[in-house]
Amino acid sequence: MSKSTKDRKNICVSSEEITRQQQFIEEIKEINYQREVQTGKKKLYYLATFGCQMNEHDSEKLAGMLSEMGYAETDNMNDSDLIIYNTCCVRENAELKVYGHLGPLKHLKKENPDLLIAVCGCMMQQPEVVEHIKKTYRHVDLIFGTHNLYKFPELVYSAIGSPTTIIDVWDCEGQIAEDVAIERKDGVKAWVTVMYGCNNFCSYCIVPYVRGRERSRKMDNIIEEIKTLGQQGFKEITLLGQNVNSYGKDIGDGTSFAGLIREVDKVPGIERIRFMTSHPKDLSDELIHAMRDCQKVCEHLHLPFQAGSTRILREMNRKYTKEDYLGLVSRIKENIPDITLSTDIIVGFPGETEEDFLETLDIVEKVRFDNAYTFLYSKRTGTPAAKMEEQIPDEVKKDRFQRLLATQNRISKELNDTFLGKVVEVLVEGVSKTNDKVFTGRTRGNKIVNFEGDGSLIGQLVNVRIDNVKTWSLEGSIIK
Ligand code: SAH
Ligand code: SF4
Ligand code: F3S
Repeated sequence: MSKSTKDRKNICVSSEEITRQQQFIEEIKEINYQREVQTGKKKLYYLATFGCQMNEHDSEKLAGMLSEMGYAETDNMNDSDLIIYNTCCVRENAELKVYGHLGPLKHLKKENPDLLIAVCGCMMQQPEVVEHIKKTYRHVDLIFGTHNLYKFPELVYSAIGSPTTIIDVWDCEGQIAEDVAIERKDGVKAWVTVMYGCNNFCSYCIVPYVRGRERSRKMDNIIEEIKTLGQQGFKEITLLGQNVNSYGKDIGDGTSFAGLIREVDKVPGIERIRFMTSHPKDLSDELIHAMRDCQKVCEHLHLPFQAGSTRILREMNRKYTKEDYLGLVSRIKENIPDITLSTDIIVGFPGETEEDFLETLDIVEKVRFDNAYTFLYSKRTGTPAAKMEEQIPDEVKKDRFQRLLATQNRISKELNDTFLGKVVEVLVEGVSKTNDKVFTGRTRGNKIVNFEGDGSLIGQLVNVRIDNVKTWSLEGSIIK
């Protein structure tokens, strides 16, 4: 099904359409209630999410709609009535993982023909993936994409008892759906989408093809959502978008990301504000100043640089040079001296020479990131880089990757060492998975801190003295 983008820009899904979806929710709720009365058991869903925070947050919307439909969540898929995979295709291994999970579901479907199996998310925006699933995994009941998530209730309703696979993937972005139920996983930290899509077309990246063009939510809607979160007791907000720095440009009335965070800073109850992801080409001085001035905006910035060589950056269509990036980092450090920086780096982009790679290592040494997410370049069909000659052999990529990792690990540990004996403010997020006396939280600079405490501290800001330092986390004791 294809939809035109022209008449959709910045227009929200109509309230009539949201009401229509609400009717499907009521219908399914009734079906599920009848079943519950017969069997004495609530209907259960199993939801697995791959990919970035965008997808995690989309899954919170799916969970919200599912609970309105009368489903409860389970982490045991053998026991579930509805299985849903929310997929990612940013690298090949993300896709392979999903296929690995879909195969074995055939047996579950045989045992329980009423089981509904759904797949959605970025992978489904590629027609060849949908074809492959249709042919190879015929036990899948429902396939939908990223642009029509709000139609999930209608799609589930159509899939119940349907002999054929229901497929609804839009090849262009739809309207923004406000008022979709969201069931947040965490009670302390909340993600809030500020914009959808990406216009940048970095030459290696599939995201613009599967998430569509940039669409900003209206500032009023964002602020309303955050006010409600503040009233509900959430303490930390992460503003989400593929490229948050260009927030508002499509609205065209002067709305900017810097302006937005100045407004979010005023919302009562919220103690900390983060955002991701920032593109170096769009990170304005106006935003740096807003970060400096806004008390709640944390001293942490995720600023992917991807590659150190200006020639490779040009091939990647990143629109900045090595010098631009280093200059930007200097301006940020001047304005916000205790900033911690994290980044994304790709190793083995087509044509990357040893000299190019050394430029990447040079940026890592010069900037001294606290944390870096490092990726082996993965060829994505349909992107310009996939057609480039001189794809780099796997063993060369892996060798560079190991060297990069060793350099970054050394720097991360050195930077963490400077925290030894210091007292840091930690927002307590939860209890450790392995020890119920150990609690975990983060500093404003996004460092993970583990310490002994009790459950009453969750959601509180506490001071912790750092007694021990690891490469990826700090350990300490609460100062009363
Ligand atoms: N919009 C964000 C995140 C995009 S995806 C940004 O621009 O930073 C997250 C990361 O995945 C990217 O920053 C990039 O480092 C990596 N990535 C994207 N496409 C890739 C590919 N084809 N191969 C390897 N890594 C890739
Ligand atoms: Fe991909 Fe580049 Fe857009 Fe990020 S900015 S999502 S890397 S195209
Ligand atoms: Fe993956 Fe889609 Fe995010 S491709 S990285 S889940 S936007």
